[in-house]
Formats: sequence, C-alpha cells, structure tokens
Amino acid sequence: MTFLTLDQVSHHYFSKRDYTKALDNISFSLKKGEFVALLGPSGCGKSTILSIIAGILENTEGNVLLEDKPIKQSQLAIGYMLQQDYLFPWKTILDNVLIGPKINKKPISDFKETAIQLLQEVGLSGVEDSYPTSLSGGMRQRVALVRTLINDPKILLLDEPFSALDYQTKLKLEDLVGRLLKNYHKTAVLVTHDIGEAIAMSDRILVMNANPGSIAKSFEVPIELRQSAPLTVRKHSKYQILFDRIWDELDKREGGDIQ
Ligand SMILES: Nc1ncnc2c1ncn2[C@@H]1O[C@H](COP(=O)(O)OP(=O)(O)O)[C@@H](O)[C@H]1O
Ligand SMILES: [Mg+2]
Repeated sequence: MTFLTLDQVSHHYFSKRDYTKALDNISFSLKKGEFVALLGPSGCGKSTILSIIAGILENTEGNVLLEDKPIKQSQLAIGYMLQQDYLFPWKTILDNVLIGPKINKKPISDFKETAIQLLQEVGLSGVEDSYPTSLSGGMRQRVALVRTLINDPKILLLDEPFSALDYQTKLKLEDLVGRLLKNYHKTAVLVTHDIGEAIAMSDRILVMNANPGSIAKSFEVPIELRQSAPLTVRKHSKYQILFDRIWDELDKREGGDIQ
C-alpha cells in the first residue's frame, strides 16, 4: 500500500491581476518508512508541494492522499520542520517542545518524560529550563525536531531545515536526523537544493524542473549509500557517480543552476 500519494497535482497562485503556475501535474508516491528528497533550484515549487501535503495550501488540481484518505482529514499526523526554528524566545526549551500537546489540549504531564528522553536522544540533556537565545543554531534546530517528533507524526516534512547552519553542524544534523527518523520508522519528505544532502539522507531523489514546477527525473540512492552515515557517504565512489548524474540533470535544464 502506498502511504502518501500525489496524483496529478497542479497549483496556481492567484493575485488580483495575475496568476503564477507554481506546480504542473506532480505525481509521486511514498511507501511507509521511505525517505524521499525533492531537489531543485529556488522557485521550482518545493515548498509549495510541502505546504499542500501539510494541508496549509489547497492544490488547484489533483489529489493528495495519506493512507488512502484526503490529506485534510489527517493534518494532526503531519510534522513540519523549517529552515527557521520558530522557537518562542519567552518560553523555556521544555515548554517549546510541549507546545504541540498543549495546543491539542492533551495532558502535558503525559508528555514530559518523552520530551526529556527525546532531548537526550538528540544530545540535549539538561537544557529543559534554558531559553532558546542561550542555544546555538544547531541546538535550536534539534529542539525544533524534538518539538515535531513529540506529536508522533506519521510523516515529516523537512523544508531546507539545515540550510542556515554552518557546514559541520549541518553534516552532524543530517546524520542525527537521518538516524532518528530511521529508528522511529518515520516517512519523510526532505526539500533541499543541496545535491549532497539529498544523496546523504534519502532513499530516492526527485529532481524538479522550474517554471512551472514539475518532476523531471527520479534517482534511486544505492543501498550502500543509504546504509552509511552522511560523512562516510560523501567519500563513497558511488556518491560521486550519482552526484554527477544529478548535477548533469539539473545543469541541462533552464534555471538549473544550484543556488
Ligand atoms: N504566496 C505566493 N504567491 C504568489 N506566488 C508564490 C507564492 N509562494 C510562492 N510563489 C511562487 O511559486 C513558485 C514556487 O515557489 P516555492 O514553492 O516557494 O519554490 P521553492 O520552495 O522551490 O523555492 C515561485 O515562482 C514563487 O515565486
Ligand atoms: Mg522553498
């Protein structure tokens, strides 16, 4: 059974005088536990796809199904992680993590232990009572991940979550997030314009065209690469081969420059 299905999804943004065709006939599906990357230049519609999956935007055409049901019926099952962490500066780390259960009016005490355990798992023991300003960018993104995971989402949408971080922190977080999501058997869609990140983290890469956004080509990531940590992946001979194939694919398309 497919877990998530996008079937001939198109999207237009309308303004008073004009409209932009952001997505044209996007179709792909994910199996449970699969990790797929959407890779393409800025403006090709990656975030629009995630917003549609998250139910924040309604697609103008086509169908989006999660476990065979329209996505609108499953919004609580979706976790979203963005480039900016959106932690509330006036709340402690623990209160930030517990925001989801609180909004959903669930008993907070049931979630405290899981929150502390998840923070421990991402290497953040003892920060529960600190405030976001005292944490580094990488630490804050880990808190944002925990805040998402505490709601036990069925699917995680990651919109360039590491692009504001320095390179070393980014590689470490790719590794951590990748391992954590595999351990918890989470299904995930990662949006990125970074070929290396897409190869290091995902099982399959969908390369996108721009103007309007569409899927150009799908690349399977070889099993040897999927089983290695992001730093090791980048040293593998098969990494370079796949990198070059994807580079050529992006390069030959109009607007295919990586930004
Ligand atoms: N709210 C909006 N109103 C009008 N056009 C938009 C809006 N959001 C995005 N777009 C346009 O839709 C296209 C896809 O945008 P987006 O999904 O943000 O791309 P990406 O995430 O790949 O950079 C771009 O041409 C962008 O300018
Ligand atoms: Mg975007």
